[in-house]
Formats: sequence, C-alpha cells, structure tokens
Amino acid sequence: MSTTVLTNIGELVTWDPGQPVLTGAALVVDGGTVAWTGPAADAPAADAAYDVGGRAVIPGFVDSHSHLVFGGDRAEEFAARMAGQSYSAGGIRTTVRATRAASDEQLTAHVARLVDEMRRQGTTTVEIKSGYGLSVADEARSLAVARQFTEETTFLGAHVVPEGSEPEEYVALVTGPMLAAAAPHARWIDVFCERGAFDGDQARTILAAGAAAGLRGRLHANQLGPGPGVRLACELGLTAVDHCTYLDDADVDALASSGTVATLLPGVEFSTRQPWPDARRLLDAGVRVALASDCNPGSCYTSSLPFCIAMAVRDMGMTPTEALRAATETGAAALDRDDVGRLTPGARADLAVLDAPSHLHLAYRPGVPLVTETWLAGRRT
Ligand code: NIG
Ligand code: FE
Repeated sequence: MSTTVLTNIGELVTWDPGQPVLTGAALVVDGGTVAWTGPAADAPAADAAYDVGGRAVIPGFVDSHSHLVFGGDRAEEFAARMAGQSYSAGGIRTTVRATRAASDEQLTAHVARLVDEMRRQGTTTVEIKSGYGLSVADEARSLAVARQFTEETTFLGAHVVPEGSEPEEYVALVTGPMLAAAAPHARWIDVFCERGAFDGDQARTILAAGAAAGLRGRLHANQLGPGPGVRLACELGLTAVDHCTYLDDADVDALASSGTVATLLPGVEFSTRQPWPDARRLLDAGVRVALASDCNPGSCYTSSLPFCIAMAVRDMGMTPTEALRAATETGAAALDRDDVGRLTPGARADLAVLDAPSHLHLAYRPGVPLVTETWLAGRRT
C-alpha cells in the first residue's frame, strides 16, 4: 500500500470528537483509508504528497435517501406546482409507466449519469431505492440496476398501490413474491407510510416481512401530514425515518428517546412548497438529524447536498457545521455506517475538496459549485 499526505489544507473537517474542525492540518491516506490526521508539522513521512492549495477538505457527503432508478421526468408537473398546483403522490404512477417502458440499459445509463452528477458535487456514498417498478420483475430489476452502483439498496415496493391493484392484494404481493425477488438485491426495506399510500398497520406488516427476509427497515413518514409513521419507526427501533415534516410533540419525544435518525429532505419542501421541517426543534430535543437529497423525478429532482445544506441553514435553523455533519456523519448513521462520513483514522478516505477556505462557504455561497475534487477510497475521481 502506498501512502499520500495531503498538505496545505485550509481547513480539515474530520468529526474527531476531540477536534472536529482543524486548521493548519494534514491528512495521510494509506491505500483507501485515512491513516492519520493532525497538525501539518507533525505529519508522518509518506510516499507521495498532494498540495491542496489552501482549500477546505471535508468528508464526502453520505446521501442516505434517493430514488435514482426511474424513466422519464415530470418537469411539467413541477412547473404546474410552481404556478399554484399542489403536490400529489399520484404523480408516482406517471413515473411507474415510464420506468416500466425503459430498458435495463436505459435505466442503468440514467442511474450512472445521476451518480456521476452526485459525485461531482461531493457525494461519495449513496443509498438508492426501487419503487417505480411496482411489479415483481420491475422491482427486482430496479434493484439489480441500483446494486451496480451501491451496496445501500432499498426495496420500496410499498411506494404506492399501482394502477389496477387493490391495496390488500398488493400488500400480499409486496410481502410475498415481490419481496422474494427483491431481497437478494437489497439491504433495506422501506414503506411510504402516508395517507394515500400505506397506513401504519400495512407498514408494520411490510416491515415485518422484510425483517424476516433479512432486510433492515426504514420509513418515509410524516411528509404530507401528521401520521403514525415516525412513532412506528421509533417503536420498531428502525435506523432512520425520513421526511419528518409534520411532527407533534409525541413524535419528537419518540425520536429523542429511540435513537432513530430523523432524515430531513429539504429539497422536497423546496420543490413542493410545503413547510420546512423544523431541524432546530429536533436538534434541541436531542434527536439525531441527517440531511439527504431524496433525488427523484417528482417531489424533488436535485442531487445536490450542498444545496440541501444551504436550505437547512437558511430556513431550518441549522448552523453550517450542524448541516455539514447531518449530510456526512449522521447521514452515515442513517445507513448504520461508521466507516464513512468522517475523516478519522480507520475511516474510508472518501472526501471532497472545496474551492473555499472553510466549510461555512457551503451555505454562504449557495448554488456555486464549490466541490472541485471528490476522492473515493483514497483516489481522486
Ligand atoms: O420521497 N414520498 C414518496 N416518494 C418520493 C416522491 C416520489 C415522487 O413524487 O415521484 C419522496 O418524496
Ligand atoms: Fe423518498
């Protein structure tokens, strides 16, 4: 294994509990792993040196929630929303038609393009869901496509009940043949627990079937209105519950006492004109808060975590440092991972170099492509 020392780092964000943000620091990569961080003057000798030119180095973003496997887009629906129409999850069925009509090659090429787009914006780990196939064959192939790009694949057969199906028979399909076909390609199972999609009892049934097939659970919940999803996720001890826009005090208490990560997806509120989730209230209650893109063709077609960070700081009460942590270390926690999302010795050397002297610029300079380099497992991509 060869070692490389990154020198002349303007600011180094490691999330080391003792000193999470360092100046005048160096970082040594050994193969694909972080071997050492500390004051530049104390850096051990390495086989090669790389001058970062005074730029900030941060952990690569961990995007714990995306729906990248889909055909077509819904730009017209977005334009209509901006002109006053409200968001409807019924639009998911439009994308289901386009996804079923796409070939495996088209779906794969499309995911490759979006993953590359994410990479260029500093994302180094991404979770990808199915959920636009909604038949046994289309869910299985969606996950097989996703699996080519990440180990963090999620079976979301329970996205909505597809056209022509009855809810009860569809839940039986999802928990039976569809789960059997999906499970070999998936690590997680997810349910859209929301009025108009699946209720709390259905979500419980689907998550139990997933657990029996070896999949870990996560939930979409409390996105469009209050509901049972957040409390169910906490009761079941799920790793993460995502959206969390409409929360009452009992939901916040349940999150604070369960350790379940609340993943906020501000791109959705931006693109649907829903109220912002209250990150400050959650953080003040002691809830672990992650930020993710939710990149999908309907409610939010952004792949940019810097954009999500800017919204979280501007409108959701997070400090720039809290927002960066939410998009890195806590995003990793939302995937039950501690090998990514931080730059401490032993972690994977996944990092982003910013064309800025500090991470504060991520929120301070919204819309500006500040990520100039993305490194994956110790290699510049
Ligand atoms: O996370 N909430 C459900 N699913 C997606 C939206 C899907 C769509 O509109 O196509 C979401 O927002
Ligand atoms: Fe989603």
